[in-house]
Amino acid sequence: MQIKNGIFYVGVNDHKIDLFEGQYDVPNGMAYNSYVLVDDKIAVMDTVDKNFTHEWLDNLAKVLGQRKPDYLVVQHMEPDHSANIAKFLEIYPEAKVVSNVKSFAMMKNFFGNDYQDRRIEVGEGSILSLGQKELHFVTAPMVHWPEVIMTYESQNKVLFSADGFGKFGALDVEEDWACEARRYYFGIVGKYGQQVQAVLKKAANLDIEAILPLHGPMLTENLGYYLNLYNIWSSYGVESEGIMIAYTSVYGHTKAAVEMLAEKLKEYGCPKVVVSDLAREDMAEAVEDAFRYGRLVLATTTYNADIFPFMREFINHLTERNFQNRTVAFIENGSWAPQAAKTMKNMLEGCKNLRFADVTVKIKSALNDESKKQVDDLALELCQDYKEQRPETANKNDLTALFKIGYGLYVVTSKDGEKANGLIVNTVSQVTNTPNRIAVCINKQNYSHHVIKQTGIMNVNCLSTDAPFSVFERFGFQSGRTADKFDGFEPMYSDNGLAFLPKYINAFMSLKVEQYVDLDTHGMFICTVTEARVMNTLPTMTYTYYQDNVKPKPKTEGKKGYVCKVCGYVYEGDELPEDIVCPLCKHGAADFEPIE
Ligand code: FEO
Repeated sequence: MQIKNGIFYVGVNDHKIDLFEGQYDVPNGMAYNSYVLVDDKIAVMDTVDKNFTHEWLDNLAKVLGQRKPDYLVVQHMEPDHSANIAKFLEIYPEAKVVSNVKSFAMMKNFFGNDYQDRRIEVGEGSILSLGQKELHFVTAPMVHWPEVIMTYESQNKVLFSADGFGKFGALDVEEDWACEARRYYFGIVGKYGQQVQAVLKKAANLDIEAILPLHGPMLTENLGYYLNLYNIWSSYGVESEGIMIAYTSVYGHTKAAVEMLAEKLKEYGCPKVVVSDLAREDMAEAVEDAFRYGRLVLATTTYNADIFPFMREFINHLTERNFQNRTVAFIENGSWAPQAAKTMKNMLEGCKNLRFADVTVKIKSALNDESKKQVDDLALELCQDYKEQRPETANKNDLTALFKIGYGLYVVTSKDGEKANGLIVNTVSQVTNTPNRIAVCINKQNYSHHVIKQTGIMNVNCLSTDAPFSVFERFGFQSGRTADKFDGFEPMYSDNGLAFLPKYINAFMSLKVEQYVDLDTHGMFICTVTEARVMNTLPTMTYTYYQDNVKPKPKTEGKKGYVCKVCGYVYEGDELPEDIVCPLCKHGAADFEPIE
């Protein structure tokens, strides 16, 4: 099968396999992909599993016709791809092996030969010309083994991505890509997010029109979709809104609590509740779900002065894959010396950026009134933002929202008649309390100032400490006059018709402008509160927290001049102009400091 100009598929489908890599259930089999590039020279990209030697060699022979291959490119030495290297080199004695130096050491281990006399070593940036086609090699250590290389073919703009972008499942079975690609990713490469991020950064510099992995379908369209998912997975981001409950239950009492919690979560507006019985369901599926959603509930019993074995195994899978950036809650059950919650929390101690729920459900043998109340309290705690996002369940008059105002950073949203707008401000304060009045200062240069002056309404979104730098880039470093600030970031709406942020905020207030004070460079809007919702209990993003934890360190090495303390923009020059306005965040000279 020709995929692109001079690129042919010669891989095989495996429906006999019971467990991939000795542990993963693959109900729809597995594909071992291999490709042939035909040009003045011919290169074969990887071999296949040992059970398919002749099927693969037949596929290869059909594409080659009377010609012989010049090169075998070995991108990865795991036996599902490398098993037939020795056989291939025996059949095609003129062909050379092209690979990373680390692979040749592995060939010696697998086949007793490191092909000193017929090898071409390649590394980062090496190029091999086939004629019209040039192969550019990119190292990809630990995606999934240390020797992995990927290959960019520049004529067709194709990236051969080794295990990257692969999935479980044979190619003759139609199924959703993301589900089995996610299970594959977190099972097999999940630990190495940092290394995948490094490869994605290299890929961003290439003009890619197709990705050809060693497992799963060839990706020839809509590449942004796949790249975006890989970016979320490898940065341990949250892919989908919802809550996962992973549990074990010996006699059904823990399960009863889990079922009650699942019902309550749905009642309080959780958009998706996924429940996994770790003793009975696929462990790899449970692991992928733990990484897919942002909130995880672990429910188990105390067992042999420890926790139930399936839960221990599950948590081990999470920690060895660098589980992070999530909210975790516990349900424990114990009849005489309960300690499961403590044990589970201890197991997660080394994980980065986990927030543990305030409420832990403690069951002594079976649910009672006290533990049922804890289930309800936990559901409310985990779903507070979901509950507050829905008009029918929100408490729209929660004036404790005003306690979220600190010397913080806010997204002020407005609407210019057509589209939702928003900007970052750091000047919000409560000025009176009978009635509650809030003052918001906005630089007159900002489009939002103009819009709010005309419409007289705005929403103040109190950013919480989970807001990433991309929120500041989105709302702070571009103008709403020219950019759609909610492009790709679906907002929700309050009663005044204005947008509020569906995440990264702990509260918002809808304001109506009562008075305007002209402050020369800025305008101060003095407003009454028409709606106030508290979304969660996360701390407010203070200016200091932003500076210390969110803003990337500015790249000032080797530069002379001044750096904007707000966004990191570097002005190069001996003197800072007094009237400078930062082109990124629009702050003035007072917010610049000399580069040390
Ligand atoms: Fe498909 Fe890491 O081997």
